[in-house]
Amino acid sequence: VVHPVLLCGGSGTRLWPLSRKSYPKQFAPLTGAESLFQASARRLAGPGFAAPLVVTASDFRFIVLEQLAQIETAPAALLIEPAPRNTAPAILAAALWLAADDPGALLLVAPSDHVVPDAEGFRAAVAAALPAAAAGRIVTFGIRPDRAETGYGWLEPEGSAPADFTAPAPRPLCRFVEKPDAATAAAMLADGRHLWNAGIFLFTAATLIAAFEAHAPVLLAAVRASVAGTQPDLAFQRLDPAPWEAVEDISIDYAVMEKAGNLDVLPYGGAWSDLGGWEAVWRETGPDAAGVVTQGAVTALGCADSLLRSEAEGLQLVAIGVKDLIAVAMPDAVLVADRAHAQDVKLAVARLKAGG
Ligand code: GDD
Ligand code: MG
Repeated sequence: VVHPVLLCGGSGTRLWPLSRKSYPKQFAPLTGAESLFQASARRLAGPGFAAPLVVTASDFRFIVLEQLAQIETAPAALLIEPAPRNTAPAILAAALWLAADDPGALLLVAPSDHVVPDAEGFRAAVAAALPAAAAGRIVTFGIRPDRAETGYGWLEPEGSAPADFTAPAPRPLCRFVEKPDAATAAAMLADGRHLWNAGIFLFTAATLIAAFEAHAPVLLAAVRASVAGTQPDLAFQRLDPAPWEAVEDISIDYAVMEKAGNLDVLPYGGAWSDLGGWEAVWRETGPDAAGVVTQGAVTALGCADSLLRSEAEGLQLVAIGVKDLIAVAMPDAVLVADRAHAQDVKLAVARLKAGG
């Protein structure tokens, strides 16, 4: 069986003001009735899948519990990080936790901020990747790129042929480039051989732990100590906060994937999107003929290529003749941004946090 590891400890600041410190984007119903977290949990359930292991922050633990109950999913364990340290420590903690029972356990690590509509097709892709992972490879999932995105990781498969999306089989990777600059991303898009990293990984616990031993031994020691000192608290497992203090804040992509030599990629041809920012929400929600997405109590006259969303009860949002605008109204905050600058919401949130 495969053990789904659901990461949902991120704070999703680029989707402010919908995504908040206490209620980030992965728990909000962004594009449908279910939250992205719930959709992720459901996608990785059924024959061949064990109960999910969830790794999250203390602040979100009751939201996680409630949202899993809503979809009638009982987790194998809910690991609570003492403080956010990005994805490398979270994933490693999950691997160490499962390795205690079975070092050969297969982990499928999945972010909870993704839209992958074809759940069955995705499960078939996981099945196709299993033999490689069981044999000690770290399997990534490759998406056909359609723009020079700098917010993703990029994968370079070995050989000169373009990836085969019709009968996908895992293929060795010769390079993993996390968040390239614009020129590098443009070159990788142009050569037609590179793929986006979906941010989903399949490996055995032992394989991942060995990769940390080779590329991040100090991080491994600290996370190992923290996992060893885990204390149960109600339905949760709290990692030991003392050793966690020393744990580096780093993503799995920089800590391991850019350095490891045993990476494979399985091309995934189905629809996939990381709802990382408002631009992506606009794109994924299906704009009308004029390119407009309206959500909630919104009246739009003569607008184009815009996302207009009102989450506040009784608050009417009226937009007239605007183009390339992101407008999101919440009861206590309103965002108005040019669509091309939607990623900078992150900077605004940082400034708000700093107090002005
Ligand atoms: N538990 C936990 N703790 N989860 C975390 C933490 C943390 O400290 N930080 C982030 N996460 C979760 C987020 O909630 C999200 O579900 C997932 O881990 C990925 O984090 P992001 O911050 O969204 O990563 P990214 O989108 O910038 O980049 C990653 O995903 C891209 C595709 O979506 C990379 O793997 C890229 O290479 C990849 O292309
Ligand atoms: Mg993301």
